[in-house]
Amino acid sequence: TRVFISRDMASVALGADAVAEAFAQAGCEVVRTGSRGLFAIEPLVEVETGAERIAYGPVGPGDVEAVLNGSHANCIGPIEEHPFFSGQQRFTFARCGMIDPLSMADYAANGGWKGLDAADALSPQEVVEAVKVSGLRGRGGAGFPTGIKWQTVLDTPADEKFVVCNADEGDSGTFADRMLMEGDPFHLIEGMAIASYAVGARHGYIYVRSEYPFAVETMREAIARSVDRIAPFTLEVRVGAGSYVCGEETSLLESIEGKRGEVRVKPPLPAIEGLWDKPTVINNVLSLSAVPFILAEGPQAYADVGFGRSRGTMPIQIAGNVKNGGLYEVGFGLTLGELVNQIGGGTASGRPVRAVQVGGPLGAYFPPSMFHLPFDYEAFAEAGGLIGHAGITVFDDTVDMAKMARFAMEFCAVESCGKCTPCRIGSTRGTELIDRIVAKAPRTAGTVETLPQIRNARIAARTHDEEIELLRDLCDTMKHGSLCALGGFTPYPVLSALDHFPEDFGSTPALTETAE
Ligand code: NAI
Ligand code: SF4
Repeated sequence: TRVFISRDMASVALGADAVAEAFAQAGCEVVRTGSRGLFAIEPLVEVETGAERIAYGPVGPGDVEAVLNGSHANCIGPIEEHPFFSGQQRFTFARCGMIDPLSMADYAANGGWKGLDAADALSPQEVVEAVKVSGLRGRGGAGFPTGIKWQTVLDTPADEKFVVCNADEGDSGTFADRMLMEGDPFHLIEGMAIASYAVGARHGYIYVRSEYPFAVETMREAIARSVDRIAPFTLEVRVGAGSYVCGEETSLLESIEGKRGEVRVKPPLPAIEGLWDKPTVINNVLSLSAVPFILAEGPQAYADVGFGRSRGTMPIQIAGNVKNGGLYEVGFGLTLGELVNQIGGGTASGRPVRAVQVGGPLGAYFPPSMFHLPFDYEAFAEAGGLIGHAGITVFDDTVDMAKMARFAMEFCAVESCGKCTPCRIGSTRGTELIDRIVAKAPRTAGTVETLPQIRNARIAARTHDEEIELLRDLCDTMKHGSLCALGGFTPYPVLSALDHFPEDFGSTPALTETAE
């Protein structure tokens, strides 16, 4: 009997290795795949029965017999019919969880290399045109049109050009890049090979964060196996060293060049002067992995899906205090409420949802009153937030939003590269300010005298409202005066917490509005 069990890092963390071992011991042929992406049913075992696979999950090492004779209580049936999967549009993650990630034969037999072959039949300009027509925008978070970025690189004359994949997935609650690299690495390689052909690059780098050892190992092995298929393009993996800001494109380039990961001033844009000052396509894993579908199925098939100016699909990652944590790839436009309550199934704790952070640690917090927002770059920007890398982190009503705002400032202080003042110093001052706001809150009856750390009489004399006004002023400086998104976006979580949950800062909603 052939069974399929994920070797994705999350599945392994949930015990997939022991389950795989138990099935192997029982004489089964075990194929280790990537994850299907719903962690509540991991470790998941799919048993091949003729043309179908019947899924069971979660499964333990002691369940082998019950699974093999079909009596296991957690029988799901064909995975495609499970409600979490039946509504998805898997353009990018079509093969993830289905195939052996390192089998070139599996990849080719399931639609692999179709995009690269289609690209090879076109001119580089026609490939760039196809990406433009698809409407694909940068999936790392900024949403810049990928085709325009590629056009800039194609149009910039140089003796050498590079393609760099940003796989430094640092946002809390995001795991799509990792899942793709571990579950379908040839897919990313194919996307990069198409990019290299389109812009005239000979060599590429995949910059993976050090916290992803499985992804590093899988990508390296996949590159070694596909050398001939992507020639003359060559690829290598570079591993980060644990710095969040190395996910910012220019500090990532510095890091590849062997320098300290510090942000470069833009312009020049990497598309014009990037790696070793050469024109460089630098795209996120998900942007590059969207490209094979666009070439294979035609740009219109991609553009036909989506919402407003957000075309195609987005692999949304639902995490935090939620029942159905996992990856859900779907066209843009579902509402935040549908994602959290219907697809995510509400909180894991069973308590009411109080806040949802969208877009990683630099994203805004939204209360359930904003659950009507459609998942779309523009709609989120208008509502004072961002979709970023499409990570959604759910919190129940026990969350303290002042603590979350403080965490944002502290995170910025810890991860700041130190190049510009609003971020380097502002984040530390911001952390202190939030501490004082909480301590001086009328509700908690905190008085200035109870704060021995405030030695400066002028600071001690400031009222609670004045401190809040100062925090808003500091956020304004950070937003407009920082060199990169780390300092520039930290105000999103801070201000959204302050605006939507003023009571956690010791204000009544009316008081906060006065402070504005
Ligand atoms: P950006 O808006 O400065 O640039 C977006 C991209 O477009 C860059 O690659 C830039 O070089 C390129 N670009 C801009 N104008 C161009 C032109 N005329 N021609 C060619 N290329 C052009 O945004 P940035 O600072 O690169 O990214 C910020 C985003 O990163 C945020 O939205 C945030 O959500 C996201 N982010 C993602 C993380 C993750 O783990 N994926 C972590 C932290 C932040
Ligand atoms: Fe560095 Fe922060 Fe300035 Fe970005 S905003 S360049 S991380 S100091």
